[in-house]
Amino acid sequence: MKNNSFIIKGDIIYSKSKMELSWYKDGYLVCEDGVSRGVYGDLSDIPESCRTLPIEDHTGKLVIPGMTDLHLHAPQYGFRGLWGDMELLDWLNIHTFPEEARYADSAYAKEAYAIFVDDMLHTATTSFAAFSSIHVPATELLMDLTEESGLRAYIGKVNMDRNSPDELREITEGSFSETLRWLSDVKERNYQNVRPILTPRFIPSCTDELMEKLGELIRETGLPLQSHLSENRSEISWVKELCPWSQSYGDAYEHFHCLGDLGNRTIMAHCVWSGDQEVELMKKNGVFIAHSPSSNNNIASGIAPVRKYLEKGLNVGLATDMSGGTTASILRIMTDALTASKLYWRLVDETAKPLTFPEVFYLGTVGGGAFFGKTGSFEEGYAFDAVVLSDEDLRTPLKDRLDPAERLERYCYVAGERPVDHKYVSGRKLL
Ligand code: GUN
Ligand code: FE
Repeated sequence: MKNNSFIIKGDIIYSKSKMELSWYKDGYLVCEDGVSRGVYGDLSDIPESCRTLPIEDHTGKLVIPGMTDLHLHAPQYGFRGLWGDMELLDWLNIHTFPEEARYADSAYAKEAYAIFVDDMLHTATTSFAAFSSIHVPATELLMDLTEESGLRAYIGKVNMDRNSPDELREITEGSFSETLRWLSDVKERNYQNVRPILTPRFIPSCTDELMEKLGELIRETGLPLQSHLSENRSEISWVKELCPWSQSYGDAYEHFHCLGDLGNRTIMAHCVWSGDQEVELMKKNGVFIAHSPSSNNNIASGIAPVRKYLEKGLNVGLATDMSGGTTASILRIMTDALTASKLYWRLVDETAKPLTFPEVFYLGTVGGGAFFGKTGSFEEGYAFDAVVLSDEDLRTPLKDRLDPAERLERYCYVAGERPVDHKYVSGRKLL
């Protein structure tokens, strides 16, 4: 028998399209060699070559594709739920930078990252894109622990050479040479599930010279990049002062070839206040927007116009942005995205229809998953990433009248943060 080949039985839900969910009560989900061979209503419908595979029986439980968290900060995980009483720039200076500076101490980093990775293992997330800190040893520790866990991730050593405290500021040359050292170490480690991603923190933290060097590195290597864009109004004004020649914050990134304009995959977190010119640049370059409603609410950044981005055909995924955001659960971020879109519609723009549950599920699975390749769906050919959720104890007299999609919606609201029962990444059972 082939490795990583089996059938899961359960109440299976995945996105049929952006607008619609597919679900099967007592369905069969086939994994062959770590890849999905599709979902079937009956054993006899399964292709003959797979029909005799062993069955993992999760009857009565919900089975969904693994979720993608498109943006988070691993060294901020320890202060989730604290310090949400200020806006971005003060929050960074007063709380975030001093805490991230502690990751110079590898023993502290090891303790913190072991907790982070173990907790992530028990969420519904199977793929994530994370910032670490400026420190190479701590970044490599985080990558080692993530690889060991079996989770799939892009992880980036952060670059910052201005406007930060002495203990968290690199010199320009040092920031670049440390990045090269880190990339070379990572190559030697030969990870299966973890990849490096260039991570200039945001324009206020990086000099023009450093940004130019990173742009050149992208041209040479094609490496992906993650950063922050148009999150907070004071931040945007500051970028205009720092780059007075730019048409927009996004234009400033593109000037340095850090907005996906060289064809490398690029994530920009937030995009709460992006204007038309910036939106057009992101669309032209296929940038992935990491929508982070918990963070945008917590540090009062605003509400991102996600409906507009979807109508324009931009790539959008969901993100916790821990610990601007307070939850580690993309299932909870789905409900936050729904709430935020309703407020946007009610208070900002009555033509921007609120998001629907199938839409936020799509964003949390296929939308962000596309950054990693074919992940986030059970359609044939997708990586077999699945999580099993138990809603049997969430008592309601409506129980027998709810279909699996309704049960999932309810689960996200009332139990979205609790640990999942089982998890598979590329067919490997992690839980
Ligand atoms: N912009 C620059 N750094 C950060 C960060 O750590 N969190 C958030 N939310 N925005 C940022
Ligand atoms: Fe962030």
